[in-house]
Amino acid sequence: MSSTNPKTYAPVPSKKVAFLGLGVMGYPMAAHLALAGHQVTVYNRTTTKSIAWCAEYASTSAPKHAETPRLAAIGADIVFCCVGNDDDLRSVTLGADGAFAGMAPGAIFVDHTTASAQIARELDSAARTLGLRFIDAPVSGGQAGAQNGMLTVMCGGDQAAFDAIAPTAMAFSRACTRVGDSGAGQLAKMVNQICIAGLVQGLSEAVAFGQHAGLDMLQVLEVIGKGAAQSWQLDNRGKTMVAGQFEFGFAVDWMRKDLGLVLDEAKRNGSRLPVTALVDQFYADVQQMGGQRWDTSSLIKRLK
Ligand SMILES: NC(=O)c1ccc[n+]([C@@H]2O[C@H](COP(=O)([O-])OP(=O)(O)OC[C@H]3O[C@@H](n4cnc5c(N)ncnc54)[C@H](OP(=O)(O)O)[C@@H]3O)[C@@H](O)[C@H]2O)c1
Repeated sequence: MSSTNPKTYAPVPSKKVAFLGLGVMGYPMAAHLALAGHQVTVYNRTTTKSIAWCAEYASTSAPKHAETPRLAAIGADIVFCCVGNDDDLRSVTLGADGAFAGMAPGAIFVDHTTASAQIARELDSAARTLGLRFIDAPVSGGQAGAQNGMLTVMCGGDQAAFDAIAPTAMAFSRACTRVGDSGAGQLAKMVNQICIAGLVQGLSEAVAFGQHAGLDMLQVLEVIGKGAAQSWQLDNRGKTMVAGQFEFGFAVDWMRKDLGLVLDEAKRNGSRLPVTALVDQFYADVQQMGGQRWDTSSLIKRLK
């Protein structure tokens, strides 16, 4: 079974790129780069995944894998990355085996990890001292968005560096937008997660209420999904919430990591986020129930 769904790519000049981190998101994102005609070298901490990726995309333009981020980055115009958190990002960028040690002056590092705005600024500064450029570029759209090459990418950093990477990043995106200076991409992703947290709790309460009231919730969601209650979560998660299916999608552990970043940033900038803080605690309950890898729509399990 292929890890990507077909996409028509806009013609752009072929670049030499590296991709670090072949997880749920990175594996198909790197694949779209290769399928769009770029020369891709991948690095993954667990090498078996890099080998599998090269085998799956053997028919594209000379796919290779490297043993370290530094080796993957040598000769790359752009180094893309999608790992877990701030510490993972430090470990693939800095130090003797980090990507920065292999990149040539002028090369651009594009980070798709959901991480803090502080690490983005820290790495932007470290990159500049080496003559490199850094763009923070977290994504929205989930596993399906990555497989379809239809992610939404929110970028922070230098305008010229953004202009240089955007056409290449469109291989796995439907929109790739610069929203400000270094760190602004991560801050925009935090705004995205604040929107989602309260919304999923509201949808959970609505579905649980309707089920307790004896309504046919599939029918009700169909009806209200055509009105003002419509949302991406209702369209894409309503039916599975009714059916009690949560073994897929965006993991609760990742959401708690993201909400931790949001709440830390809110302390710094003086924002009050009462609902977000409460929903974060509800997700802690879901983790206690064994739901670390369940989809974020599993908030409804607390209400059953
Ligand atoms: N999944 C989603 O729906 C989604 C949506 C939007 C944003 N995101 C964000 O995208 C990022 C990746 O998510 P994912 O779902 O792809 O995660 P994942 O499947 O767990 O993959 C994580 C990747 O990072 C690598 N990694 C982790 N720690 C590392 C380290 N210290 N050094 C080197 N490599 C390391 C892993 O390597 P191994 O294979 O060796 O473990 C793996 O390739 C996260 O920041 C997440 O919040 C995810």
